[in-house]
Amino acid sequence: MGQLLAPEPAGQGQAPLRIYYFHTMATKATGKNPAASKASAPKAASSSTSKASTASKGAAANGKSAAQDDSAVPARRAASAVQPILNQQENAPRALQRFGTVSQRLPIGLNEQVRLQSVEMLNQLLADTICLRDMYKKHHWQVVGPTFYQLHLLYDKHYEEQSELVDSVAERIQILGGIALAMGADVAEATNVPRPPRDREEAPVQVSRLLQAHEIILKQCHDYASRADDAGDDGTNDLIVSELVRTNEMQVWFLSEHLVDTPLVRS
Ligand SMILES: [Fe+2]
Repeated sequence: MGQLLAPEPAGQGQAPLRIYYFHTMATKATGKNPAASKASAPKAASSSTSKASTASKGAAANGKSAAQDDSAVPARRAASAVQPILNQQENAPRALQRFGTVSQRLPIGLNEQVRLQSVEMLNQLLADTICLRDMYKKHHWQVVGPTFYQLHLLYDKHYEEQSELVDSVAERIQILGGIALAMGADVAEATNVPRPPRDREEAPVQVSRLLQAHEIILKQCHDYASRADDAGDDGTNDLIVSELVRTNEMQVWFLSEHLVDTPLVRS
Protein backbone atom coordinates (compact mmCIF):
# COMPACT_ATOMS: atom_id res chain seq x y z
CA MET A 1 0.00 0.00 0.00
CA GLY A 2 2.78 2.34 0.96
CA GLN A 3 4.28 2.24 -2.54
CA LEU A 4 1.22 4.02 -3.91
CA LEU A 5 2.11 7.17 -2.01
CA ALA A 6 4.38 9.66 -3.65
CA PRO A 7 7.96 9.30 -2.35
CA GLU A 8 9.23 11.82 0.17
CA PRO A 9 11.18 14.58 -1.59
CA ALA A 10 14.86 13.97 -0.88
CA GLY A 11 16.26 15.89 2.05
CA GLN A 12 13.03 17.61 3.04
CA GLY A 13 11.33 15.27 5.56
CA GLN A 14 8.03 16.32 7.09
CA ALA A 15 9.01 19.80 8.25
CA PRO A 16 8.13 21.78 5.08
CA LEU A 17 4.67 20.22 4.95
CA ARG A 18 4.02 21.13 8.56
CA ILE A 19 5.21 24.64 7.95
CA TYR A 20 2.88 24.89 4.98
CA TYR A 21 -0.08 23.70 7.09
CA PHE A 22 0.75 25.99 9.97
CA HIS A 23 1.23 28.93 7.70
CA THR A 24 -2.01 28.30 5.82
CA MET A 25 -4.13 27.83 8.94
CA ALA A 26 -2.64 30.82 10.72
CA THR A 27 -3.08 33.02 7.67
CA LYS A 28 -6.71 31.93 7.30
CA ALA A 29 -7.41 32.68 10.94
CA THR A 30 -5.68 36.06 11.15
CA GLY A 31 -5.32 37.22 7.61
CA LYS A 32 -1.65 37.91 8.44
CA ASN A 33 1.55 36.11 7.79
CA PRO A 34 2.54 34.46 11.11
CA ALA A 35 6.20 34.77 10.19
CA ALA A 36 5.80 38.52 9.93
CA SER A 37 4.03 38.91 13.26
CA LYS A 38 4.52 36.08 15.74
CA ALA A 39 2.26 37.73 18.33
CA SER A 40 -0.70 37.84 15.93
CA ALA A 41 -0.95 34.02 15.57
CA PRO A 42 -3.97 32.54 17.43
CA LYS A 43 -3.10 30.98 20.76
CA ALA A 44 -4.73 27.58 20.00
CA ALA A 45 -3.01 27.29 16.64
CA SER A 46 0.41 28.04 18.09
CA SER A 47 0.00 25.56 20.97
CA SER A 48 -1.36 22.70 18.84
CA THR A 49 1.40 23.06 16.29
CA SER A 50 4.38 23.25 18.56
CA LYS A 51 6.30 20.91 16.27
CA ALA A 52 5.50 23.15 13.35
CA SER A 53 6.71 26.12 15.35
CA THR A 54 9.95 24.30 16.08
CA ALA A 55 10.35 23.50 12.41
CA SER A 56 9.60 27.11 11.58
CA LYS A 57 12.31 28.26 13.96
CA GLY A 58 14.65 25.78 12.32
CA ALA A 59 13.87 27.19 8.92
CA ALA A 60 14.47 30.67 10.20
CA ALA A 61 17.79 29.54 11.61
CA ASN A 62 18.74 28.33 8.13
CA GLY A 63 18.22 31.81 6.83
CA LYS A 64 14.72 31.16 5.38
CA SER A 65 11.40 32.51 6.59
CA ALA A 66 8.37 30.18 6.85
CA ALA A 67 6.86 31.96 3.88
CA GLN A 68 9.92 31.18 1.79
CA ASP A 69 9.81 27.48 2.81
CA ASP A 70 6.14 27.37 1.86
CA SER A 71 7.00 27.78 -1.79
CA ALA A 72 9.16 24.65 -1.67
CA VAL A 73 6.21 22.36 -0.71
CA PRO A 74 5.22 20.17 -3.66
CA ALA A 75 1.45 20.46 -4.07
CA ARG A 76 1.34 17.01 -5.70
CA ARG A 77 2.50 15.33 -2.51
CA ALA A 78 0.06 17.20 -0.30
CA ALA A 79 -2.84 16.05 -2.49
CA SER A 80 -1.72 12.41 -2.68
CA ALA A 81 -1.46 12.20 1.10
CA VAL A 82 -5.26 12.46 1.39
CA GLN A 83 -6.11 10.19 -1.54
CA PRO A 84 -7.99 7.05 -0.39
CA ILE A 85 -6.66 3.76 -1.71
CA LEU A 86 -9.78 2.33 -3.33
CA ASN A 87 -10.85 -1.06 -4.70
CA GLN A 88 -8.56 -3.06 -2.45
CA GLN A 89 -11.16 -5.84 -2.37
CA GLU A 90 -10.23 -6.66 -5.97
CA ASN A 91 -6.80 -7.87 -4.93
CA ALA A 92 -7.70 -8.95 -1.43
CA PRO A 93 -5.30 -11.34 0.27
CA ARG A 94 -6.58 -14.52 1.88
CA ALA A 95 -9.39 -14.00 4.39
CA LEU A 96 -8.28 -13.38 7.95
CA GLN A 97 -10.51 -16.22 9.13
CA ARG A 98 -12.72 -18.62 7.22
CA PHE A 99 -16.41 -18.89 8.04
CA GLY A 100 -17.21 -22.04 9.97
CA THR A 101 -13.95 -22.03 11.92
CA VAL A 102 -13.36 -20.86 15.47
CA SER A 103 -10.25 -19.27 16.88
CA GLN A 104 -9.01 -19.49 20.44
CA ARG A 105 -8.06 -15.81 20.54
CA LEU A 106 -10.11 -15.04 23.62
CA PRO A 107 -9.25 -17.10 26.72
CA ILE A 108 -12.76 -17.87 27.95
CA GLY A 109 -12.15 -21.41 29.16
CA LEU A 110 -14.00 -23.28 26.41
CA ASN A 111 -12.42 -25.82 24.09
CA GLU A 112 -12.71 -25.83 20.31
CA GLN A 113 -15.47 -28.42 20.08
CA VAL A 114 -17.69 -26.53 22.49
CA ARG A 115 -17.08 -23.28 20.65
CA LEU A 116 -17.82 -24.87 17.27
CA GLN A 117 -21.11 -26.31 18.49
CA SER A 118 -22.21 -23.05 20.10
CA VAL A 119 -21.26 -20.95 17.08
CA GLU A 120 -23.21 -23.24 14.78
CA MET A 121 -26.30 -23.05 17.00
CA LEU A 122 -26.01 -19.30 17.39
CA ASN A 123 -25.63 -18.73 13.66
CA GLN A 124 -28.88 -20.64 13.14
CA LEU A 125 -30.61 -18.50 15.73
CA LEU A 126 -29.03 -15.41 14.19
CA ALA A 127 -30.34 -16.17 10.71
CA ASP A 128 -33.82 -16.89 12.03
CA THR A 129 -33.83 -13.81 14.23
CA ILE A 130 -32.74 -11.57 11.36
CA CYS A 131 -35.62 -12.96 9.28
CA LEU A 132 -38.11 -12.43 12.07
CA ARG A 133 -36.81 -8.92 12.67
CA ASP A 134 -37.19 -8.05 9.00
CA MET A 135 -40.65 -9.60 8.83
CA TYR A 136 -41.67 -7.24 11.60
CA LYS A 137 -40.56 -4.27 9.52
CA LYS A 138 -42.32 -5.60 6.44
CA HIS A 139 -45.55 -5.88 8.41
CA HIS A 140 -44.99 -2.53 10.09
CA TRP A 141 -45.01 -0.93 6.64
CA GLN A 142 -47.76 -2.99 5.05
CA VAL A 143 -50.38 -3.39 7.79
CA VAL A 144 -53.86 -1.95 7.11
CA GLY A 145 -57.25 -2.13 8.78
CA PRO A 146 -58.94 -1.12 12.03
CA THR A 147 -55.96 -2.27 14.11
CA PHE A 148 -53.49 -0.36 11.95
CA TYR A 149 -52.31 2.05 14.60
CA GLN A 150 -51.59 -0.41 17.38
CA LEU A 151 -50.11 -3.07 15.12
CA HIS A 152 -48.00 -0.51 13.27
CA LEU A 153 -46.49 0.56 16.59
CA LEU A 154 -46.30 -2.92 18.09
CA TYR A 155 -44.51 -4.32 15.06
CA ASP A 156 -41.90 -1.60 15.25
CA LYS A 157 -41.37 -2.12 18.97
CA HIS A 158 -40.79 -5.82 18.40
CA TYR A 159 -38.52 -5.00 15.46
CA GLU A 160 -36.30 -2.93 17.74
CA GLU A 161 -36.18 -5.67 20.36
CA GLN A 162 -35.32 -8.30 17.75
CA SER A 163 -32.57 -6.00 16.45
CA GLU A 164 -31.01 -6.00 19.89
CA LEU A 165 -31.16 -9.79 19.96
CA VAL A 166 -29.46 -9.93 16.57
CA ASP A 167 -26.58 -7.89 17.91
CA SER A 168 -26.31 -9.89 21.13
CA VAL A 169 -26.20 -13.20 19.26
CA ALA A 170 -23.71 -11.97 16.65
CA GLU A 171 -21.41 -10.58 19.32
CA ARG A 172 -21.58 -13.81 21.33
CA ILE A 173 -20.39 -15.60 18.18
CA GLN A 174 -17.40 -13.26 18.02
CA ILE A 175 -16.60 -13.87 21.69
CA LEU A 176 -16.60 -17.60 21.00
CA GLY A 177 -14.04 -17.04 18.22
CA GLY A 178 -16.48 -17.66 15.39
CA ILE A 179 -17.82 -15.60 12.51
CA ALA A 180 -21.41 -14.40 12.43
CA LEU A 181 -23.59 -14.57 9.36
CA ALA A 182 -24.42 -11.08 8.23
CA MET A 183 -25.55 -10.62 4.65
CA GLY A 184 -29.09 -11.16 3.44
CA ALA A 185 -28.27 -13.83 0.86
CA ASP A 186 -26.41 -15.91 3.45
CA VAL A 187 -29.20 -15.43 5.97
CA ALA A 188 -31.80 -16.51 3.40
CA GLU A 189 -29.89 -19.73 2.76
CA ALA A 190 -29.51 -20.55 6.44
CA THR A 191 -32.86 -19.65 7.98
CA ASN A 192 -35.59 -22.08 8.96
CA VAL A 193 -38.24 -19.35 8.84
CA PRO A 194 -40.46 -19.71 5.74
CA ARG A 195 -40.18 -16.86 3.28
CA PRO A 196 -43.27 -14.63 3.29
CA PRO A 197 -44.66 -13.33 -0.02
CA ARG A 198 -43.82 -9.83 -1.17
CA ASP A 199 -47.56 -9.05 -1.25
CA ARG A 200 -49.50 -7.13 1.37
CA GLU A 201 -51.38 -9.55 3.59
CA GLU A 202 -54.29 -9.17 6.03
CA ALA A 203 -53.37 -8.32 9.59
CA PRO A 204 -54.38 -11.71 11.06
CA VAL A 205 -52.23 -13.44 8.45
CA GLN A 206 -49.31 -11.21 9.33
CA VAL A 207 -49.71 -12.06 13.00
CA SER A 208 -49.95 -15.77 12.24
CA ARG A 209 -46.75 -15.68 10.20
CA LEU A 210 -44.94 -13.91 13.00
CA LEU A 211 -46.16 -16.43 15.57
CA GLN A 212 -44.95 -19.28 13.38
CA ALA A 213 -41.48 -17.72 13.18
CA HIS A 214 -41.41 -17.15 16.94
CA GLU A 215 -42.26 -20.78 17.58
CA ILE A 216 -39.55 -22.03 15.23
CA ILE A 217 -37.03 -19.90 17.09
CA LEU A 218 -38.30 -20.86 20.54
CA LYS A 219 -38.19 -24.60 19.83
CA GLN A 220 -34.59 -24.24 18.71
CA CYS A 221 -33.83 -22.14 21.77
CA HIS A 222 -35.01 -24.88 24.13
CA ASP A 223 -32.89 -27.47 22.33
CA TYR A 224 -29.81 -25.26 22.01
CA ALA A 225 -29.98 -23.98 25.58
CA SER A 226 -29.82 -27.48 27.00
CA ARG A 227 -27.00 -28.45 24.61
CA ALA A 228 -24.99 -25.40 25.61
CA ASP A 229 -25.64 -26.21 29.26
CA ASP A 230 -24.48 -29.81 28.80
CA ALA A 231 -21.31 -28.59 27.08
CA GLY A 232 -20.51 -26.13 29.88
CA ASP A 233 -21.05 -23.03 27.76
CA ASP A 234 -22.88 -21.04 30.42
CA GLY A 235 -22.65 -17.75 28.55
CA THR A 236 -24.43 -19.11 25.49
CA ASN A 237 -26.99 -20.88 27.65
CA ASP A 238 -27.68 -17.66 29.53
CA LEU A 239 -27.97 -15.61 26.33
CA ILE A 240 -30.46 -18.04 24.86
CA VAL A 241 -32.59 -18.34 27.99
CA SER A 242 -32.38 -14.84 29.43
CA GLU A 243 -32.58 -12.86 26.23
CA LEU A 244 -33.90 -14.93 23.34
CA VAL A 245 -36.45 -17.09 25.14
CA ARG A 246 -37.73 -14.31 27.39
CA THR A 247 -38.09 -11.75 24.59
CA ASN A 248 -39.67 -14.14 22.12
CA GLU A 249 -42.15 -15.48 24.65
CA MET A 250 -43.22 -11.97 25.60
CA GLN A 251 -43.70 -11.02 21.97
CA VAL A 252 -45.73 -14.18 21.36
CA TRP A 253 -48.08 -13.08 24.10
CA PHE A 254 -48.59 -9.60 22.65
CA LEU A 255 -49.19 -11.01 19.18
CA SER A 256 -51.41 -13.93 20.10
CA GLU A 257 -54.01 -11.79 21.83
CA HIS A 258 -54.70 -10.10 18.50
CA LEU A 259 -56.06 -13.37 17.15
CA VAL A 260 -58.72 -13.81 19.82
CA ASP A 261 -62.08 -13.20 18.17
CA THR A 262 -63.88 -10.91 20.63
CA PRO A 263 -66.59 -8.31 19.94
CA LEU A 264 -65.36 -4.80 19.37
CA VAL A 265 -68.46 -2.91 20.51
CA ARG A 266 -71.42 -5.10 21.53
CA SER A 267 -71.11 -8.38 23.41
FE1 LIG B 1 -41.70 3.34 10.73
